[in-house]
Amino acid sequence: MSGLLEVSGISVTFDGFRAINNLSFSIGAAELRAVIGPNGAGKTTFMDIVTGKTRPDEGRVLWGERSIDLLKLDEAHIAREGIGRKFQRPTVFEDQTVAENLMMALKANRSPWRVLFWKPASADHARVEELAAQVGLGEALTRKSGELSHGQKQWLEIGMLLAQEPRLLLVDEPAAGMTLAEREQTTSLLVDLAKTHAVVVVEHDMDFVRRLNCKVTVLHEGAVLAEGSLDHVTANQQVIEVYLGR
Ligand SMILES: Nc1ncnc2c1ncn2[C@@H]1O[C@H](COP(=O)(O)OP(=O)(O)OP(=O)(O)O)[C@@H](O)[C@H]1O
Ligand SMILES: [Mg+2]
Repeated sequence: MSGLLEVSGISVTFDGFRAINNLSFSIGAAELRAVIGPNGAGKTTFMDIVTGKTRPDEGRVLWGERSIDLLKLDEAHIAREGIGRKFQRPTVFEDQTVAENLMMALKANRSPWRVLFWKPASADHARVEELAAQVGLGEALTRKSGELSHGQKQWLEIGMLLAQEPRLLLVDEPAAGMTLAEREQTTSLLVDLAKTHAVVVVEHDMDFVRRLNCKVTVLHEGAVLAEGSLDHVTANQQVIEVYLGR
């Protein structure tokens, strides 16, 4: 197996509708990939399958050097294997500070038995500061999360995901609701993370995708329609027809 994640020939049918249709997808250990496609193309469903939320009717999903069969694992187990997912709506604890939210995420990374006796050590405080700096919140450690801007909350949530030490990050529509400055900072963050993680970003904002400057996979009707640079896929006649609605 060459990639970190190897999805092959997956299909899912919801009430007779084929949301994912013989889809194959592969990503390397330190790779950034944008996934685009019209509404209903199956982008979120694809992430649901990789994270174990939805089971495909057929196909294979293999993970890591040992080619672990993710279809045999439940959601919690898949997360522990190193697959982190960022949902569109931030789910930070608004009454807690940035540091407290990050510390909780670190704590959640421990086994249930160890959580029982867990007290933050100086190494954990250092890790919290490191995570905050990594997502651009180094100056905001003591701020209440509820006071952060929408973009900052999204970064905090990415920091909380990183506390789980994932190898693959799945990010669904990060740019939505962000200011231009926030979108630009998010681009840099994702590009930076992809130096050491596999990162899959679903996004409708084409300027955002262009700034990611990475390989793009176009989904349509649950299958890959085109793959390559953004310029390559946007020059594809089928892609143009799908986006213009024929
Ligand atoms: N749990 C479900 N039950 C029934 N149909 C579903 C379910 N999940 C998704 N679908 C359908 O599958 C298709 C693909 O949906 P999906 O949410 O994956 O699209 P998407 O590419 O993420 O679209 P968007 O860009 O709008 O977020 C849609 O037609 C959707 O209505
Ligand atoms: Mg979606």
